[in-house]
Amino acid sequence: MPTPQPIRLAVIVPVFNEAANVAPMVDRLDAALAGIPWEAIFVDDDSPDGTAAVVRGIAARDPRIRCLRRIGRRGLASACMEGFLSTTAPFVAVIDGDLQHDESILPAMLAAVEGGADIAIGSRHVAGGAAEQGFSAARGALSDMGAKMARMLLPTPVADPMSGFFLLPRALVEEVAPRVAGRGFKILLDILLSARRKLAVAEIPYSFRSRQAGESKLDATVLLEFGALLLDKATGGIVPLRFLAFAAVGGIGVLVHMAALFLLVQAAGFGFGPAQWGATLVAMTANFALNNRITYRDARLRGPALWRGLLLFYLVCGIGAAANVGIAGLLVRDGVLAWGLAGAAGALLTVVWNYAVSSTLVWRA
Ligand code: GDD
Ligand code: MN
Repeated sequence: MPTPQPIRLAVIVPVFNEAANVAPMVDRLDAALAGIPWEAIFVDDDSPDGTAAVVRGIAARDPRIRCLRRIGRRGLASACMEGFLSTTAPFVAVIDGDLQHDESILPAMLAAVEGGADIAIGSRHVAGGAAEQGFSAARGALSDMGAKMARMLLPTPVADPMSGFFLLPRALVEEVAPRVAGRGFKILLDILLSARRKLAVAEIPYSFRSRQAGESKLDATVLLEFGALLLDKATGGIVPLRFLAFAAVGGIGVLVHMAALFLLVQAAGFGFGPAQWGATLVAMTANFALNNRITYRDARLRGPALWRGLLLFYLVCGIGAAANVGIAGLLVRDGVLAWGLAGAAGALLTVVWNYAVSSTLVWRA
């Protein structure tokens, strides 16, 4: 039996509901990477359309194909990081699983990094590259704005920092991994902003194709996460992003509480006491839903776990509220703080308590 060649390049393919694109993707990689020992690792977040089964079907015939299936997790950036860290190949690349990136430039990207570049980026914004024809004007403008903001933070100029198509030595991934936030959609930007040295970047032009099958997963929360990533990197990650999101949701909860209180008293004719209880319940439920969608998006609860989580969240917030009232009361009684400050101290303690306990017991994030 001939000794198999060690793998030189691992191509990480993040996939969520891309069942129809897997087989064409494998064929294209096979054609593009002739002569290079490669493997492709499809990282699937338990897609309901059966993407993982399709990958495994192909892997049964082709040992270069691997499937990394994650359950109860979501996220493009973390999928890429886990793919990188699951291979022994000295070079790693990421390519979208929806055929929008042009795999034929992978050998040129590999050659650039073998030739000394720290990272090769498939770029839509250097001479010879092009953005998707069908990119809506709004999406194009948004992408440009994001790229402008990103460039302000980057130590090295990069024409297409929003690209999701790049190749680098695995050693560089291991070097930056402890600082990578790993949340959201922009893993390249995350890596560039996490490097503590100036990187030699090679940008290779390609034309972004339009999607043939399946649909884009970019939505409003993805944009929020992008803003959060920039904020995190700009502030050196002092305040945990999740905490900021949790606190912002808490702020919205106060507004929801006031609105519900007003409606219950004014429109429904409840007395103030019962109306307070009702408004508290409404606000806690709204906070739970928002946190489940935004703050803990990557660990979102569904089905029976959702109801268990909601009950636990009521309990945690109930204790938090009792502590808030109790502590503020003590501080005022003992003359430690004026009532305004005491109220703020109680509220801060409550947010920290609610956050810490929710993160460990409710969402286990
Ligand atoms: N495992 C996993 N988990 N994969 C995901 C997830 C997820 O939560 N979300 C998206 N993906 C996969 C998709 O299946 C696809 O293969 C790839 O990541 C890109 O997702 P799309 O939903 O197609 O994103 P897009 O086309 O809007 O954005 C792409 O273009 C941008 C350039 O403007 C991405 O490549 C971005 O990274 C890129 O910056
Ligand atoms: Mn896409």
